[in-house]
Amino acid sequence: MTIALAILGASGKMGKRILQLAQKDPQFHIVGLGTRNEYFGPLTDLIGDHGEQITLASDTGLALATCDVAIDFTSHEATRGHLEAAISTKKALVIGTTGHPPDAKKAIEEAAKMIPILFSPNFSFGITLCLEAVSHLGKRLYGTCTIDILETHHVDKKDRPSGTALAFANAVGNGKPVLENHCTQPRKKEEIVIHSLRSGEVIGEHTVIFECKHERIELKHTTHSRDAFAYGALLGAKFLAKQGPGLYSLKDLFSV
Ligand SMILES: NC(=O)c1ccc[n+]([C@@H]2O[C@H](COP(=O)([O-])OP(=O)(O)OC[C@H]3O[C@@H](n4cnc5c(N)ncnc54)[C@H](OP(=O)(O)O)[C@@H]3O)[C@@H](O)[C@H]2O)c1
Repeated sequence: MTIALAILGASGKMGKRILQLAQKDPQFHIVGLGTRNEYFGPLTDLIGDHGEQITLASDTGLALATCDVAIDFTSHEATRGHLEAAISTKKALVIGTTGHPPDAKKAIEEAAKMIPILFSPNFSFGITLCLEAVSHLGKRLYGTCTIDILETHHVDKKDRPSGTALAFANAVGNGKPVLENHCTQPRKKEEIVIHSLRSGEVIGEHTVIFECKHERIELKHTTHSRDAFAYGALLGAKFLAKQGPGLYSLKDLFSV
């Protein structure tokens, strides 16, 4: 079965790479590309000879019209509109966009009662494994030692802390982490402090540090290329094409 795919945020760093990889995968047939602007010049270059079959649209409804699954890597403001369009056209939606405020997360949960949604702040397999490992460590160590999360990303990243750092905090604090921006005096062991650096072109680095009385554990993940996320999102689209309404995560996809 081929999957008719739409990519929302197709002019962005992630969207462009997802488009390039999807074009090489015979399981996908690209039918729609959405961006904010009417200017589609760079996308036309990416599409090449197949351009006539693909709808380029700043109107999300149009971009989604003939797809089975859409992939969204945009901004949290845009994702709200994309959710509404996906509900009204009954399309499955893979969401990689991060930085959602709490009420937007609620909107994603509500939408998942009507359409299939796969939502993850990080689509890399390695991060999925690290989240599992950190969750195990958290069950033994949370509240007994100090825990810091250090995340570094490129200077254009809009959200801070990263969605992945928040997911690590959630995993280590068993769903109820006490998050602080700065260390309090005296520092309480339940506080997880996230340190965010925005530097150069760094794609993504996360380190979770457990500082115990006589020893330290550090778990570090480095992303070498955006392909780590792009392949995960495309795998997610294949998974979601077979699912009914519901909210899915990478745990469902990778069965960790
Ligand atoms: N889950 C993961 O694994 C993962 C990995 C990497 C990044 N991300 C997240 O994915 C998102 C995109 O990242 P990126 O690096 O690709 O960003 P980017 O290069 O800035 O691209 C953003 C894309 O979204 C579009 N966009 C932005 N605001 C919009 C709006 N209000 N309405 C419609 N379209 C809008 C942009 O369109 P224009 O070109 O018209 O501005 C562009 O196509 C971010 O939230 C990032 O944190 C997630």
